[in-house]
Amino acid sequence: MEKIGLNELRKKFQDFYETKGHYVKKSFPLVPDKDKSLLLINSGMAPLKRYFAGIDTPPSKRMTTCQKCIRTGDIENVGITSRHGTFFEMLGSFSFGDYFKEQSIRWGWEFITQELQLPEERVWATIYEEDEEARNIWKNIIGMPEERIVPLGKEDNFWEIGTGPCGPCSEIYFDRGEEYGCGKEDCKPGCDCDRYIEFWNHVFTQFNREEDGSYSNLANPNIDTGMGLERLACIMQGVDSIFDIDTIRIILDEVVRISGVAYHNGEAKTDVSIRIITDHIRSVTFMVGDGILPSNEGRGYVLRRLLRRAARHGKLLGLEGPFLADLSQKVMEASGCAYPELEEKKEYIQRVISVEEEKFSTTIDQGNQILNDYIHDAKQKSGTCLSGEQAFKLYDTYGFPLELTQEIAAEADLQVDLDGFNQHMQHQREMARAARKSETDAGWADDSSLYVDLPDTEFIGYTTLYAKAKIVGIFSGKTSLNVLREGEEGHLVFDCSPFYAESGGQASDKGSAESAACHAEILGVSRVKNVFLHKTLVKSGEICVGETLDVSVEVENRNKTTCNHTATHLLQKALKNTLGDHIQQKGSSVSAEGLRFDFTHFEAITKETLEKIEEEINKKIIEFIPVKCEEMPIKEAEKLGAMALFGEKYGERVRVVSVGDYSIEFCGGTHVSNSGQIGAFKILSESGVASGVRRIEAITGTGLYSKLTEDEGLITIASEKLKANPSNLISRIQTLNEELKTYKKELEQIKMQAMGSELEDMIANAKIVNGIRLITKRFEDCDINDLRKLSDEIKDKEKGIIVLFATVNGSKVTFMVSVADDLLDRGYHAGNIIKKIAAAAGGGGGGKADMAQAGAKDPSKIEEAFSLAETLL
Ligand code: ALA
Repeated sequence: MEKIGLNELRKKFQDFYETKGHYVKKSFPLVPDKDKSLLLINSGMAPLKRYFAGIDTPPSKRMTTCQKCIRTGDIENVGITSRHGTFFEMLGSFSFGDYFKEQSIRWGWEFITQELQLPEERVWATIYEEDEEARNIWKNIIGMPEERIVPLGKEDNFWEIGTGPCGPCSEIYFDRGEEYGCGKEDCKPGCDCDRYIEFWNHVFTQFNREEDGSYSNLANPNIDTGMGLERLACIMQGVDSIFDIDTIRIILDEVVRISGVAYHNGEAKTDVSIRIITDHIRSVTFMVGDGILPSNEGRGYVLRRLLRRAARHGKLLGLEGPFLADLSQKVMEASGCAYPELEEKKEYIQRVISVEEEKFSTTIDQGNQILNDYIHDAKQKSGTCLSGEQAFKLYDTYGFPLELTQEIAAEADLQVDLDGFNQHMQHQREMARAARKSETDAGWADDSSLYVDLPDTEFIGYTTLYAKAKIVGIFSGKTSLNVLREGEEGHLVFDCSPFYAESGGQASDKGSAESAACHAEILGVSRVKNVFLHKTLVKSGEICVGETLDVSVEVENRNKTTCNHTATHLLQKALKNTLGDHIQQKGSSVSAEGLRFDFTHFEAITKETLEKIEEEINKKIIEFIPVKCEEMPIKEAEKLGAMALFGEKYGERVRVVSVGDYSIEFCGGTHVSNSGQIGAFKILSESGVASGVRRIEAITGTGLYSKLTEDEGLITIASEKLKANPSNLISRIQTLNEELKTYKKELEQIKMQAMGSELEDMIANAKIVNGIRLITKRFEDCDINDLRKLSDEIKDKEKGIIVLFATVNGSKVTFMVSVADDLLDRGYHAGNIIKKIAAAAGGGGGGKADMAQAGAKDPSKIEEAFSLAETLL
């Protein structure tokens, strides 16, 4: 057999199916779209569920993909064995209600035997035991000897994930030869040994699994085949281990090079580390490339675990400092030809990885610290063991592998309670499993049954804002009505409509509907599949099914929204130009009021950069660039390089909106016909909405005019209040600030003077206790710093004096004691005095010998505290 590289195999497969009339679609992102049942795409069919179920229309009835997939269910085995990996690619061929079982198997056989030239006698097939049709095809049409067709039960040969499309399947195996077998007489596909390797699953998706666990027949049976590209590469390259495949080996070799640790050097442990890093960096690179960021939840957590595990194994290999970001370069090299986005986003991907690596290096140290504390505690209590809970905490919170905890504990003659650890681990796994199960049960289908009998609404609103539209249905909630009367609200369905229904982030139109007999307001429009629901309030008269109404879209509202929508396209392009190609739309919202655009970016955007972006957009506006909206086959649109919404699925024909050759996007929204109509563009804010996602809010044209008017109003009011002209508002504020500063200073001086005269009185009225002059005084709402200054001045003037002040602020009292220098030698201590005094008023404090301060809670006790001072002296 000829050795074929993995990248070449991928191409061979896609080329083959293209000749069989399949539309070749690029891999969908790893992040599922409109599917809550999955954290990460795990098979070729996962992103296509909606096509299988007939919710969305596929671009072609025959499709082929090579899908990026991640499965982490077996993560413990990754690295230990040479067959497990978390990242893999799945080659798939799909029929959406087109060809079925026989054709699928025929083409499969042709590919295996003609294209790949696998020896026929080494290919086996399993079938679902009740699927006579499949058996018959293999036996009589393909001509496979009966003994190589192995019937298996539901467990093995019935494919389903959660609810949704499912059905019996036929798996194709390759016989690697006796030397790999267990030697048992009945050894065949399905046996646990290594002899037969399954590589291609043909699923005959003919049922739909319902929420209640029952199966219903799908109107059109589908085909979903999936072949592990890495598995196939193992066969075609004659290697046992996925780590020996060409594209994976170059990553592994790099790990060996940077760590200086040889692979297969007799040390099982280091081999495991090398494989773990090699596999995990693939998942990590692709996940980050698809916009996932490390976090403590969901898919972000999967990424974090993979990345940290790899980093940890780097340390075990003796790699000092971060290395994963650099290593990701090898993944890009290996897979870049099929996934050019990796190279395009290189800088971004490497940056995200290195930030997380840095972060982890801090938890490793923290974990070490905590582990040392645990060891110290255990030693003090003469223990011999660290608890399972402690080990688990280190594992779970600080990413410490159990083995490391054991190793460090052993150095201090301690063991780790393994049973306890396993219990915690088990508990966590059960929780995770329960979470996964409930996730797979979540639905991804739309409830559109209510409107199935209605014709699709013909949307005519790209070219007109008025129509004579016939009412084909009226609904109030889920109830179908024949008439809607004055004062009532409901949803009207027309045969055609100029109203844009809310979708793709663009808000819906509003407007009115009229006939000689009625007048109604259309408040908003939503859509379920292709049926438009016009939320309507009848102002006068009544509306009946079958009637024709004059409907009109509110023009100002539509035009403002339209300007904002085209501006959003300009914004996306300007962001890419200014910040880089990693910018991906994460969400957008366009209405008459303004626009909001969410996109991937790792840091706040500086004011200067925002200005640059604004400038670029305003330049494009004033260039008066014609805007074109065209429908075309998706292939043509892709050739034009039209920006598609990341992960979005499009049908066979798509609408492409281009602003000259500056911006070309797939879009179903309404747009201006010339960029000049937008008028002007202004960013109002830039902020973070989630980790790695930024948001820009902006306005255009008349929105800018309204904002300007509003701002002008503010300036006018401010000018009036400050008795200034808008033109000298700033200098007026500066003058006022200067004046304020001067007044403050003067006030201070006056206050001090006032205190100064009080000072004389205070000294004159001081009590003589034990030969010391004691000054006590209560103030209201005084700054304690002013009181300090005052006491300093007293002490400057007189010797043999002790000052005791209290100031009351609300219910809070602050005491201050100050002792003259000559008394310090005689042993008087402000700190000691104040402790006792404050205690008398329900407080505490302290300080130095010459000056101390304390807070207390009870203003009514101040006099008591003063008397106490006398007694103390
Ligand atoms: N969806 C099928 C699988 O993943 C082809 O095995």
